[in-house]
Amino acid sequence: MSRVHNFCAGPAALPEAVLKRAQEEMLEWQGQGASVMELSHRSKAFVDVMEQAESRLRRLLEVPDEYAVLFQQGGASQQFAAVPLNLSSEADSADYLVTGQWSKKAFAEGKRFVNAHCVADGSVDNFMSIPSRDDWSFSEGRYVHYCPNETIGGLEFSAIPAVESPLVADMSSTLLSRPIDVTQFGVIYAGAQKNIGPAGLALVMVRKDLLGQARPSCPAMLNWDTAAANGSMYNTPPTFAVYLTGLVFEWLESMGGLEVMGDINARKAARLYGQIDNSGFFSNPVSESARSWMNVPFTLADSALDKVFLEEAEQAGLTNLKGHRSVGGMRASIYNAVPETAVEALCNFMSEFEQRYG
Ligand SMILES: Cc1ncc(COP(=O)(O)O)c(C=O)c1O
Repeated sequence: MSRVHNFCAGPAALPEAVLKRAQEEMLEWQGQGASVMELSHRSKAFVDVMEQAESRLRRLLEVPDEYAVLFQQGGASQQFAAVPLNLSSEADSADYLVTGQWSKKAFAEGKRFVNAHCVADGSVDNFMSIPSRDDWSFSEGRYVHYCPNETIGGLEFSAIPAVESPLVADMSSTLLSRPIDVTQFGVIYAGAQKNIGPAGLALVMVRKDLLGQARPSCPAMLNWDTAAANGSMYNTPPTFAVYLTGLVFEWLESMGGLEVMGDINARKAARLYGQIDNSGFFSNPVSESARSWMNVPFTLADSALDKVFLEEAEQAGLTNLKGHRSVGGMRASIYNAVPETAVEALCNFMSEFEQRYG
């Protein structure tokens, strides 16, 4: 079977070149006579993999030395708890912007550990726009948490919010899609399974002055200080996931880095939103200034055709276009590993579908 155009929101498409390389190296890696999965994480060969992955990430994102880069397990969801446990005490307050399903989850988890205060609640508008800055209220808590790109709703902040407390960002579905100014953030974290690598791994970047403040009760596995002090090897790291992630970073460098990826991603998003906006058949419900580059939800004029659309798309080799179960409709996730040709194929399919059913 040939590979499809995969628009999955996550675990998402990985670059084909990376998968081929992993396939080539699967049985015997770097003359070790074993796969990378079968070697000690303390071996020089594997420590090199980890160090190279970190340096490539630092180059790609221009991460300054004042930030620790950590490879954590438990995905992004585990960081929902790690954030308050590392940055606050139970008596503190912390501020949360709630703009979609993921920041809502982070807020709910935050409430278990800290006096979590909602800065703004986008649910009043069904998470279709970013609440106006004039309506934000802060508790001046230990940090401000937000999700720059809401994967489910396809809602994205067009600018980094200027705030007083350290800014903590769940960048799961946007990190590496374009350059960012890391120095604007206290903490950035991201689950890997979109633009980074296999599921289960989370990347965390922490400004070093924010380390060393974890509560005594913070589990060692969630403690960023412990991870930093042990080179992300307090316990056995997910070695294959780290290796594959390193290959994805190498691929991003070979593509020309994040400026180039940003240009490609901007073109992909413009092409797809253009297709939607120029039709009387497809629509995107998100306020135009807050449209996501990575996750593009859309609906059909007649929702009774959703099933037909998905079936025919699948037959045409365009897969995983079903919207999230909480939202319905369609969603095309167009992360780094989804090439422009895939977006073009989707847009052509949408044109044809509209001609036949519109
Ligand atoms: C923005 C965002 N945050 C958090 C998560 C949860 O990630 P994980 O499943 O790795 O815990 C996701 C998953 O899709 C996400 O898109």
